[in-house]
Amino acid sequence: MSGVARRTVVSAAGAAGLAAALAACGGGGTEDKGTEEQAGGTLARTGDIPVGGGKVIAGQGLVITQPKAGEFKAFSSKCTHAGCAVSGVKDGAIVCPCHQSHFDMSDGSVKSGPATSPLPPTPIQVVGDEISFG
Ligand code: FES
Repeated sequence: MSGVARRTVVSAAGAAGLAAALAACGGGGTEDKGTEEQAGGTLARTGDIPVGGGKVIAGQGLVITQPKAGEFKAFSSKCTHAGCAVSGVKDGAIVCPCHQSHFDMSDGSVKSGPATSPLPPTPIQVVGDEISFG
């Protein structure tokens, strides 16, 4: 019986640690939380996404990139290493601030770890200057 109690304590501590890590990683990601899914789901406007860069859409858990002019991609913003939210796009890479994993902004693949799995892509569509789920 004491073994069960110990496991409960350990897993509770692990959850608290993860929550603390996520809170620490998610600092600054509080914008847009109340405005997600504006009727029909416009995620961003094309002009918001710089060519060769990208933008984190915190309220949707997405990062949208524009690797080449007119070519838009979207990926989960949840790092595949330990679940932190990526912070942005720098020098062609989507960057996780927690342990500095870098992901390719064109396909989400890992450029440098510790992450070993790519960021999952999210289908989007561009109509006019509006980017929405595809
Ligand atoms: S959680 Fe992203 S690099 Fe560790």
